[in-house]
Amino acid sequence: MASKAHFVVVLSILSLFACSGNAQLSANFYATSCPNLQTIVRNGMRTAVTTEARMGASILRLFFHDCFVNGCDGSILLDDTATFTGEKNAGPNQNSARGFEVIDTIKTSVEAACSGVVSCADILALATRDGVVLLGGPSWTVPLGRRDARTASQSAANSQIPSPFSNLATLTSMFAAKGLSARDLTILSGAHTIGQAQCQFFRNRIYNETNIDANFAATRRANCPASGGNSNLAPLDTLTPTRFDNNYYRDLVARRGLLHSDQVLFNNGSQDALVRTYSTNGATFFTDFAAAMVRLSSISPLTGTNGEIRKNCRVVN
Ligand code: HEM
Ligand SMILES: *[C@@H]1O[C@H](CO)[C@@H](O)[C@H](O)[C@H]1NC(C)=O
Ligand SMILES: *[C@@H]1O[C@H](CO)[C@@H](O)[C@H](O)[C@H]1NC(C)=O
Repeated sequence: MASKAHFVVVLSILSLFACSGNAQLSANFYATSCPNLQTIVRNGMRTAVTTEARMGASILRLFFHDCFVNGCDGSILLDDTATFTGEKNAGPNQNSARGFEVIDTIKTSVEAACSGVVSCADILALATRDGVVLLGGPSWTVPLGRRDARTASQSAANSQIPSPFSNLATLTSMFAAKGLSARDLTILSGAHTIGQAQCQFFRNRIYNETNIDANFAATRRANCPASGGNSNLAPLDTLTPTRFDNNYYRDLVARRGLLHSDQVLFNNGSQDALVRTYSTNGATFFTDFAAAMVRLSSISPLTGTNGEIRKNCRVVN
């Protein structure tokens, strides 16, 4: 009896740890096994962002799409083959997700310094933080120790990554399914302060919607025709798309959100007050974004002996 009660207590404590998500990740995971890791990743990202500032945004989005599909496990990095269907050709990623070669280049440098030790999932997590910092955003300590998936799921990528045509209720429930709050949704959508989107994702908004600034809609229509030009790009942040700042929220308050899924955060709903706060207080946004990125990066990691340390981020060992 006593030993059974003891067992139950131990189990409860163990499951408490499991629930906290990043209990097994730690900032100094590679301190002895790959002491130069953070410098190598930072240098790789500095080169990439200097070549093309948008790359900081593209890597940030890759990480989001990795974490929302079975956790931050590098699954998005796997290539399709004749016998393996990955996530790269899922609807939200095909002809849209970019930056894979940047992760390959960094992985090559990391392997040269510490072979077979660092996961692709952790490299992507660090590269994401560094891209944000290099574009002027906040920094955060990245919990490490994720391992790489040996599987991927195109169907989960299709159903679990939110669409730009979603309403607030749908976005909220898709984030809730990943253990993230409506507040996290609003905070993390601030990632749209950097980067670009294709005409096909905002066409309906600029031609058909009414909660939009008229001058802004007219300007965007000039490079996004009612038909054709599907891949023509426009900045998600009207003024500073290569600067990580709080202009995204100023845009929302001015009804200049580019995607339908952006403007729903400021449309007389539950997130209006938070959007207003961030629109006038960049420091609060930075603090909250950094903390929310740690929560995003802690979604169901593979740890211990689960998964593997991939040699090449594009293929399972
Ligand atoms: C809330 C639901 C979200 C939806 C519906 C959404 C949707 C989109 C869409 C449609 C694009 C443009 C893709 C293209 O035109 O090829 C985009 C770009 C982007 N998204 Fe999101 N997104 C969401 C949340 C997030 C989050 C949480 C992050 C990161 C924390 C993020 C980071 C980015 C970045 C940085 C870009 C620009 C990428 C580039 O320029 O290459 N998004 N998003
Ligand atoms: C505007 O909405 C109508 C009705 O839903 C749709 O048929 C049309 O394609 C939309 N126009 C654009 C440019 O998206
Ligand atoms: C919010 O509601 C007010 C009053 O009903 C309206 O004037 C305004 O346009 C609405 N704002 C948005 C962003 O829909």
